Amino acid sequence: MRSKIVAGNWKMNKTLEEAQTLTSELIGMIADEVKGNVKVVLCTPFPYLVPVKNLLGSNARISVGAQNCSEHASGAYTGETSASMLKSMGVPYVILGHSERRQYFGEDSKLLTKKTDIALANGLTPIFCCGEPLEVREANGHEQLVKKQVEEALFHLSAEAIQKVVIAYEPVWAIGTGKTATAQQAQDMHAIIRKHLAAKYGQAVAEEISILYGGSVNAANAKELFANPDVDGGLVGGASLKSREFTEIIKSI
Ligand code: PGA
Repeated sequence: MRSKIVAGNWKMNKTLEEAQTLTSELIGMIADEVKGNVKVVLCTPFPYLVPVKNLLGSNARISVGAQNCSEHASGAYTGETSASMLKSMGVPYVILGHSERRQYFGEDSKLLTKKTDIALANGLTPIFCCGEPLEVREANGHEQLVKKQVEEALFHLSAEAIQKVVIAYEPVWAIGTGKTATAQQAQDMHAIIRKHLAAKYGQAVAEEISILYGGSVNAANAKELFANPDVDGGLVGGASLKSREFTEIIKSI
């Protein structure tokens, strides 16, 4: 059975104190209000991973995740953080290939193949992001592009390895814009991704892979998005920075 996951992507936001306050509020609200077995991941900036993890303690539901990792194992790469460092800190998840990394840091499929491999080799769960820009959607090329992104970065993996990856479909035009994909657009794309996985790995493997939706998810639209059979949760940016709103999103699953 694939997992239901709601991950918050804090991006480059908050002071340490604010991060700790948000975490403490979430621990309380989630313990009091969230039923069922949804997994919650807080993808914090690198410097906050350990302080946030320490606050979480042995919390069974909430984990931390990084927002990126290096494709290199170690060495003279100033400013970078390796997958083995994350492992040594007890960080279980890492976002890879977020559209902001693709756009501002030139990350492409070749690089993401390496990052995926090194993350998996260190026992991390990659949250692999894919999604089309507006002009591609308008030209009706979204299906082809997203399939290509998934295929190029992930299809070298074995059937066993790909089941350890979480995929996040995030249409670029919906990220931080307040313009969410409709529940139908999300379901259609998730079903296409799952079908593509099934064509390569078989239906049983494809059924085990969690596919999250991301792009302006909020407390008002989460329920409708998460109600879709192929939407297994969300990757939430802006709305994950507010404890009340993020808790409501988690409760929507
Ligand atoms: P958003 O960001 O929820 O603010 O649109 C989502 C993301 O970038 O992961």
